[in-house]
Amino acid sequence: MEVNGIELKKYELKPLPYNIDALEPYISKDIMDVHYNGHHKGYVNTSNTLIDRFSKIVKGDAQTGTYDIQGVVRGLVFNINGHKLHSMFWNNMAPEGKGGGAPGGKIADLIEKQYGSFDRFKQLFTEVANSLPGTGWTTLNYDTENGNLQIMTFENHFQNQLAELPILMLADEFEHAYYLQYKNKRTDYISAWWNVINWSDVENKLRKYL
Ligand SMILES: [Fe+2]
Repeated sequence: MEVNGIELKKYELKPLPYNIDALEPYISKDIMDVHYNGHHKGYVNTSNTLIDRFSKIVKGDAQTGTYDIQGVVRGLVFNINGHKLHSMFWNNMAPEGKGGGAPGGKIADLIEKQYGSFDRFKQLFTEVANSLPGTGWTTLNYDTENGNLQIMTFENHFQNQLAELPILMLADEFEHAYYLQYKNKRTDYISAWWNVINWSDVENKLRKYL
């Protein structure tokens, strides 16, 4: 779309980095289908619709007072972040054999230095994820200011991905991420998720900042 000579680019749903059933048995094909082809695609499509709406406002085609600018921006934040978080989430997992287990490399060194052991880190991250109220994400962030690995959470998709606090690892805790397979047993889903963490992806993300 073009507005006064300025082109606003749209988003695209990129292919999954593995087959839709590749994370079985930990994350079922049905979950992946609904999650990727339903929810993620929805975030992409709605982002693009809202970009059109925002463009009309930028261009002056919509009169002030006839639109809800906070609603449009909140919708953009929810859907654009939803798109970016899910793109990260897919790459942050890998099929059994390539994912899961304990990490090596720099991420393993940092975890051991700051948490004592991988088992202690896993225990604490799990405790945080399992106690997250409602809908949101639990993440491991690298703080470029002091080099800390920080476990963080945020509700819904309302996270601005600060360049200074990059996400290395992330767990989607929306019901759409587990309900079809695990019903209300979110703790079982989190236990299963540890088996498909792509530690190579975590390591590559970290190395950009070391
Ligand atoms: Fe999700």
